[in-house]
Amino acid sequence: MSSALFCFNAACGARYGITDVLYNCPKCGGLLEARYDFGQPDVAALKKTWRARRTSNAPLDQSGVWRYREMFPFVDDSDHIVTLREGNTPLLSGPRAAQYGGLDAITFKHQGFNPTGSFKDNGMTGGVAQARRLGMQRVACVSTGNTSASMAAYASAGGLEPLIFIPNGNIAYGKLAQALEYGAKTFQVEANFDQILALVRMLAERLGIYLLNSINPFRIEGQKSIVIEMMDQRDWNPPDWIVLPGGNLGNISAFGKGLREMRELGLIPRLPRLAVVQAEGASPFYEYMQAKGAQPFRAQEHPETLATAIKIGDPVSWPKAQLEVETSNGVVERVSEQEIADAKAIIGRCGIGCEPASAATLAGIRKLTAAGVIARDADVVAVLTGNVLKDADYIYRYHTGQLKGPGDCPIHPNFGNKPIIVPNDAERIAALL
Ligand code: F0G
Repeated sequence: MSSALFCFNAACGARYGITDVLYNCPKCGGLLEARYDFGQPDVAALKKTWRARRTSNAPLDQSGVWRYREMFPFVDDSDHIVTLREGNTPLLSGPRAAQYGGLDAITFKHQGFNPTGSFKDNGMTGGVAQARRLGMQRVACVSTGNTSASMAAYASAGGLEPLIFIPNGNIAYGKLAQALEYGAKTFQVEANFDQILALVRMLAERLGIYLLNSINPFRIEGQKSIVIEMMDQRDWNPPDWIVLPGGNLGNISAFGKGLREMRELGLIPRLPRLAVVQAEGASPFYEYMQAKGAQPFRAQEHPETLATAIKIGDPVSWPKAQLEVETSNGVVERVSEQEIADAKAIIGRCGIGCEPASAATLAGIRKLTAAGVIARDADVVAVLTGNVLKDADYIYRYHTGQLKGPGDCPIHPNFGNKPIIVPNDAERIAALL
């Protein structure tokens, strides 16, 4: 099957080889994407094969990414693939969260069940496969934490050297700890995410290091598997809405591409609507979409949010995100720090839990149902992008009333659950129960 890289910018549309080391179109600077000549596959047979692979003991079949390898056939030799059995993440229902969000029911697709605890693993296994195929020795990324944790794991597992660049003091400890544990050379840079990305791109080019940020089209290919697996788990019935948090906007780009491809191949009958939720202090995409073409895309110079995973002011993939939101008749919403914190506590009380950025989904849903954009009886899947343990500090501060947002703005623990300090005295403890 033929596969190639194409410039995403429709006015350019330049084509490049699948093994060209490119992150942007050399002709026009546009984003790149992988495309395939899928032909006309037997869709029923494909679905059967994917289902059968769930019972296989072969590592690639056990991967919730590579099980669907026919949908991203860019790898020519499966020996290049490194799998930690990524994907295979559950769909969970959360009645209490549904009620909070103004819905009859809600389903969470919990990507925090991945090997390194975030959705980045779905994409990273794709990016690392391509790095190994290209014979790269070193891989690099700038990250708000999850990409770096994931890249460190997959690179180390695959015998590559991981180089990580993170904004100093702005990532959750759980994520930094993972990068160190998985053996990445880690640089904490005195700059924000967007500034560091420019720096790393320059260094990668100069030193022949392979860049594994989501601008890398093979990361996006791997991340498509999240929606493919979601549809498989739902017996190929798309929901009305898929809601996800937006930072650098790679994930929405991957979801949209995956869904469009499934629709074109006849794997699903229609496209779900996509809703992207940003944090108020880091919402350049929201502002741009709100203006409906009246103003050009403007980066936010000083993004601010406690949801550090999505603290990004200049998201590289915004043109792809725009296409996917528009194609799916989707929406973009933004939510406050208080709204994120409370929604997160509610997801926790469902026994599910997630990291702050992930909770932007439920906070956004609550606003969108109140505004009548999402109907109460809609079939909604919210994507929880990261594990609850990624940012334990945030949780402790929230529940003990010590959480402060940007500008030292206090966050009220509306659903706080403070630990109770007691003496070693059964009577006094019994009196409290
Ligand atoms: N949720 C979590 C937990 C994330 O880590 C990220 C991004 C997002 C949502 C947003 O996804 O960027 O594709 O729109 N984290 C990146 C990182 C930027 O470096 O780990 P996006």
